[in-house]
Amino acid sequence: MSPFSAASLPSADGIWADVRLADGLAQPDVPVPPGEAAAIVVQQGLMRWVGPAAALPDAFVGLPRRAGQGRLATPGLVDCHTHLVYGGQRANEFAMRLAGASYEEVARAGGGIVSSVRATRAATEDELFAQAAPRLQALLDEGVCAVEIKSGYGLALEHERKQLRVARRLGEAFGVTVRTTFLGAHALPPEYAGRSQDYIDLVCGSMLPALAGEGLVDAVDVFCERIAFTLAETEQVFQAAQRLGLPVKLHAEQLSDMGGAQLAARYGALSCDHIEHLSAQGIAAMRAAGTVAVLLPGAYYTLRDTHLPPIQALRDAGVPMAVSTDHNPGTSPALSLRLMANMACTLFRFTVPEALAGITTHAAHALGLQASHGLIASGRPAHFVLWPVAEAAEIAYWFGDRPACTVVRQGRVARGG
Ligand code: NIG
Ligand code: FE
Repeated sequence: MSPFSAASLPSADGIWADVRLADGLAQPDVPVPPGEAAAIVVQQGLMRWVGPAAALPDAFVGLPRRAGQGRLATPGLVDCHTHLVYGGQRANEFAMRLAGASYEEVARAGGGIVSSVRATRAATEDELFAQAAPRLQALLDEGVCAVEIKSGYGLALEHERKQLRVARRLGEAFGVTVRTTFLGAHALPPEYAGRSQDYIDLVCGSMLPALAGEGLVDAVDVFCERIAFTLAETEQVFQAAQRLGLPVKLHAEQLSDMGGAQLAARYGALSCDHIEHLSAQGIAAMRAAGTVAVLLPGAYYTLRDTHLPPIQALRDAGVPMAVSTDHNPGTSPALSLRLMANMACTLFRFTVPEALAGITTHAAHALGLQASHGLIASGRPAHFVLWPVAEAAEIAYWFGDRPACTVVRQGRVARGG
């Protein structure tokens, strides 16, 4: 058995009385008057009733009482864009960038994604698991209850498989919802230099179908960029995903406007991510397709980017905005989703309610998990966090701290109590 086994965590069944519900992040069965204590009833791992503690239905009165302690309840956090499984690290590139090199220059000099590919290929599945486990634990300690994990550092069937298998194993061992995303089209592997089309044919014709057949792929992503894949190549991958009935998402318009968002929207993409250079047409297409905008302030910050994503235009258009760590060893070695919420406010001018919805409700949506995650409501699996804060803004306001919160994940008390 894995040392990280979640099976030993205590059940969260009972009445979590005396909690406060964060505005906009809960749908109680009975409205909770302002200032009144709320209760969340958990039975057999599901939230069965949410409402004013004083109006608890008789059916639940006999259940054990859990200590809410007046804390603020939010849904479990959702980190909807990570590259959590990889070998090695890239602190050397951090130093290169500090000395003035750009992300594109680092990549063209043989660093960047391809350097993580070398380290990932050299690692065994168990080594990758052992390296990713503490990273996942850091996210979970902050209340993350669902996390997306991409492949894309293997770039060959056996190594992409290894990454995705580790992602699945992490989900089982830690008792956390993991959505796997196949990102075989992340970068051109060195052995395909000058043969981009051959590599895309391999991705579409054999890698993706094989891995999907093994149940390792929940969604398909592409890095559509000057230093990665063209719009036409991206579309080929999307067509392959469509043939397999898999949803798509896209690393879009990070360094330039490639028109990726419009393409992704045509394929009904779950999300377009990064989008610093997103155009008005891209926004309109995303709005029409119901595609979530995933903002990644950790990458923006690390790359010392100065081209802000079009937040006000997205807001005006009513495109749901999520926020994620984009955890990866190159452009966002971030292990705090709360810090990303803080940065979304400070760097991108999100409001606090937008930032909180961005790391819960809208992030769940970006993974197609809106029916089970990102909202406190009865009938859903019990994923929630109780925060020792006076007001919701504190979740995004403090940074660098580790508040003593209680985390209920998959119906178990994963942290605190
Ligand atoms: O999301 N933009 C492309 N992919 C990653 C970076 C990966 C890397 O540099 O290793 C990202 O930022
Ligand atoms: Fe990414």
